[in-house]
Formats: sequence, structure tokens, C-alpha cells
Amino acid sequence: MAARPERKEQPRPRAGPRLVRAARAARRRAYAPYSRFRVGAAVLAGGRIHVGCNIENASYGLTVCAERTAVAGAVAAGARSIAAVAVASGTAPPTPPCGMCLQTLAEFGGPDLPVLLVGASGARETTTLGELLPRAFTKRFL
Ligand code: THU
Repeated sequence: MAARPERKEQPRPRAGPRLVRAARAARRRAYAPYSRFRVGAAVLAGGRIHVGCNIENASYGLTVCAERTAVAGAVAAGARSIAAVAVASGTAPPTPPCGMCLQTLAEFGGPDLPVLLVGASGARETTTLGELLPRAFTKRFL
């Protein structure tokens, strides 16, 4: 009998649906008057969900992404380890975290960190931080 082609197991955190809902709700609170590109994020840390949205500024370079505002909330609440992250955008395929946000996530999550991406009209993807940032620079190099 022919061997079944190996199917890559995708992480499915149990909090997934709640995390996605939280990221979508946070997206509605995005402050993005310049790009009109609204993003919401939710991180699961210490059993709690922390949300964030992108916050733009008239001095464009000061813009902060949704993922980093969510991580900032988690860390300010005392978390030092992230168990999962969801990012909600309006694109298809769904928007992945930018490089700066991947690096920020790598400070608090390992390569197996589940990254749930949701975009327009049901566009969904589940991936991992290791897939998006395969050779992260971390404290082990310092
Ligand atoms: N943005 C995020 O919030 N997360 C990302 O990972 C990609 C980009 C925001 C920043 C800016 O407000 C808008 O999307 C367009 O770049």
C-alpha cells in the first residue's frame, strides 16, 4: 500500500477561536487615518488575552503595529511568554506580521508559537513563528 503523503501538522491552540474574535474586535479600534490599513492582534499569555491595534501618527514613522501594541499590553500585565498570537487584517491572503513584529514576537515566543492569520472574507491561515522567521536573532546569540 502506498504510503500516505505526510501532512504537516498545524498547531491548533484551543483558545484559537477566542483569540481570533479578540483580534477582529481590536481591528475595529485601529487608529489608521493615513493608510486606512486596519490591523488587530491578540496574544495569549498567562492564560489571558491581550489585544492591540495599529496606531498611526501624523509623523508617519512613529506608527506602531497591532502585534507590537498587543505584546506591549501582555508584557505590561506581567507576561514574559506568549502562547499564541492572532492577527486580523482585511486582506486575502491574510496579512502576516511585519519583520519588526516577528522579531518582537521572537523575544517572547519560540519557533513553535502558533500564529493565526485571518483576513478578508474567511481568508485564514495557521502558521508558526518559526515558519515566518526561520533564523531568529535571539538572546542566545548575545
Ligand atoms: N501594520 C500592522 O499593524 N501590522 C503589521 O504587521 C503590518 C503593518 C500596520 C502599520 C500601518 O499602520 C499599516 O498597517 C500599514 O502599513
